[in-house]
Amino acid sequence: MSADQIDTPNHPINMSIHRETWSKDSWKNYPALQQAEWPDQEAYEKILRQITTLPPLVFAGEIRKLKTLLADAAKGTAFLLQGGDCAEEFSECTAPTIRETMKVILQMAVVLTYAGEKPVIKMGRIAGQYAKPRSKPTEIQNGVELPSFRGDMVNAGEFSAEARRADCQRLLTAYFHSASSLNILRAFTRGGYASLEKVHAWNKEFVKQSAEGKSYEKLASDIEKALTFMKVIGFDPQSVPQLSEAYFYTSHEALLLGYEQALTRQDSLTGKWYDCSAHLVWIGDRTRQLNGAHIEFLRGVHNPIGMKIGPDHDMDEIKAIMDVLNPENQFGRIVIITRFGKDKIGRYLPPLIRNFQKEGLNVLWSCDPMHGNTYTSESNFKTRNFNDILSEIRSFFEIHRSEGTVPGGVHFELTGKDVTECVGGAQEIMDHHLQNNYATSCDPRLNAQQSLDLAFMIADMLKK
Ligand code: PEP
Ligand code: CO
Repeated sequence: MSADQIDTPNHPINMSIHRETWSKDSWKNYPALQQAEWPDQEAYEKILRQITTLPPLVFAGEIRKLKTLLADAAKGTAFLLQGGDCAEEFSECTAPTIRETMKVILQMAVVLTYAGEKPVIKMGRIAGQYAKPRSKPTEIQNGVELPSFRGDMVNAGEFSAEARRADCQRLLTAYFHSASSLNILRAFTRGGYASLEKVHAWNKEFVKQSAEGKSYEKLASDIEKALTFMKVIGFDPQSVPQLSEAYFYTSHEALLLGYEQALTRQDSLTGKWYDCSAHLVWIGDRTRQLNGAHIEFLRGVHNPIGMKIGPDHDMDEIKAIMDVLNPENQFGRIVIITRFGKDKIGRYLPPLIRNFQKEGLNVLWSCDPMHGNTYTSESNFKTRNFNDILSEIRSFFEIHRSEGTVPGGVHFELTGKDVTECVGGAQEIMDHHLQNNYATSCDPRLNAQQSLDLAFMIADMLKK
């Protein structure tokens, strides 16, 4: 049975393929969509060999810890907040950019933790989100056809033949930029910058400035009281790690399988394989084929795996994928990230949930309210409307509550900067404002204000 006859993929799906033993390169026996075409194969192989010898970016113990937290979120005793750029850029790998993105996620997390009365797992689309799937392999401008931009890990965005040529040196550059980003993230979160008191002080500032601020004052002052109470009874926020430090996890789409393979390492403690390019990696909506290379690769690594699901899916294929990726039906292994759009979520999410429930599949349900709500503005910018984003999140909570399942997380494209890429929000960004600071190299992101506005609104949904 398919999710919807209209959207049944027209390619035949072989549901019962025989899989050989997994190895970190067994994906090569399956078709891999959305890969770059490297003109110099020898240079490409050499770069991958070099990455294989470089240190992993994250450690298996951290990945296992995240899996435990995600298992809690799947059961409703924690909540996942995942956010960051659509596509990171090498030129934006700077301390201020990384700090501002981390800061807005930490600020959102405090609001959600207090309102939801449960720990919030803080996860960036960061330190590795450098490769993008594209709807078309080429782009035409003024009659000239060139390869599409596939992220800084592959080529450059500028529209010239030279810029759009895939350059494998960029894989290595992506590795080092990811390592630098992670390094500063670890320093910020452990060095006192992410203390609860600091984050709360930023939130107070936001509440003061925001046009919607009045309606957030109650929540902010409740948090203030809780902090004061802790201090009065003798907790020194600077010396309690739970208050002075934060855990921040990294994630990106596992798209370029040669790169992901090069960072896949066997854990010496357990003998299991982990993709040590990030804590969580996800499968995009375009590379989610049961018989495709991405599923084959990810079945063998023990990271938590995100899976995007949009309107174009086949229910039988999804169920078969779940069996391949999570044969033991472990909690914490799979995060289903639905991205239907505000008008389609009501039609697609309930049957998806019911099918998962019928099969007894243990997953964490998260909502990406961005990718199903993209449109082109009259001023010709790719944008998203704040109210559409909010509407999809509201439906997500309502539908899960009426189905008796757990709305366990949210997934945003956001930045800590004051960009004008999505319309609406308390700042009332209008169509004609988009040109003021439209800086994304791919999809439009929520700015810091819009992100915090959303957090306060989601707080209400969590409380209910
Ligand atoms: C993305 O998350 O940037 C993306 C491309 O999403 P999706 O695979 O859901 O289209
Ligand atoms: Co995107």
